[in-house]
Amino acid sequence: MRARTTAAAAIAAALSLSLAACSGGDSEGASSTDDATVGIAMPTKTSQRWINDGDNMVSELRQYGYSTTLKYANNSSKTQIEQLENMIQGGADVLVIAAVDSTVLGGVLKKAEDAGVPVIGYDRLPMNTPDVDYYSSFDNLKVGQLQAMYIVEQLGLVNGSGKGPFNIELFAGSADDNNAKYFFKGAMDVLQEYIDSGQLVVKSGETDFKNLTTLRWDGRLAQKRMAKVLSSTYSDAKLDAVLSPYDGMSIGIINALKADGYGTDAKPLPLVTGQDAETPSVQAIIDREQSETVYKDTRKLALVTAHMVNSVLHGNSPVISDTKTYDNGKKIVPAYLLEPVSVDRTNYKQVLVNSGYIKASDLK
Ligand code: BGC
Repeated sequence: MRARTTAAAAIAAALSLSLAACSGGDSEGASSTDDATVGIAMPTKTSQRWINDGDNMVSELRQYGYSTTLKYANNSSKTQIEQLENMIQGGADVLVIAAVDSTVLGGVLKKAEDAGVPVIGYDRLPMNTPDVDYYSSFDNLKVGQLQAMYIVEQLGLVNGSGKGPFNIELFAGSADDNNAKYFFKGAMDVLQEYIDSGQLVVKSGETDFKNLTTLRWDGRLAQKRMAKVLSSTYSDAKLDAVLSPYDGMSIGIINALKADGYGTDAKPLPLVTGQDAETPSVQAIIDREQSETVYKDTRKLALVTAHMVNSVLHGNSPVISDTKTYDNGKKIVPAYLLEPVSVDRTNYKQVLVNSGYIKASDLK
């Protein structure tokens, strides 16, 4: 392995203690793996985060000297399965997969297993298959908790400065993405007591996960549902907060709110959460349209995942931080989970700009 000389060095240093503790190191004799190829399957280019994820994975793996095949599936699970089949047939030595639809990969992952190709679930866990070896992600429950904590703190429900009742509407991510359930559960763990006490009111009455999901996290679908809820339920009432699990959906939700007349002094926008700290949403936070986002440092995720790949290719056990949480229906998948961070106007500079995650020049 070549020495790391890039910005990744700083992150590597931060993670190195825990990683070095259990892996047996990076520098074992690698003759049989030096020319290994890693297949990287990413879901879509419609969101900046996945473009960064793909680029980061390629550059991290290059630093180990590995070749990569990076494919985006245009949010089509059929395309992703074909891409994975091609990677297996083409002799990939490891697969790193961020699923489009986490529930339909069983067949192709069985082919990987039969071909002796280890599989790492990247951020999204392949479900109902024994043929996934490791999982790298963030503490997904905490993502939802952070979004909901932001809402109840800003409404003054935690320190008692605001009594309510406040009106809130809830959104969830794609039903076929295991993460969506974790985000929603984490949020409801925080919100439920305030809903039970009547301080938070979901005026539409829509509180069941299955009625709140948004296929493929599509911002246009979120916009449509927000518009529908506003016209059916809020003609005489004011909406105070929206739980949105993802920045791309928050943009759609804010569009619907503005089209309904929100965003003026007389009718201010409600609190709107988000996730991924994508540049347009951080700009919307600066512009006081979106309130919050959850930052997940995808540079660290790539670092951890590349380290996992390297360990697997050397026949070592990768560093794992969690062996209990991620039951995919067939097995508990050993995971390395990173910490998410809540970001708003007060800390975006320190957290996102000073860390180099977003360039100051990309923000107005
Ligand atoms: C990821 C989120 C992302 C969402 C939509 C989830 O699986 O964990 O970071 O916002 O997909 O792309």
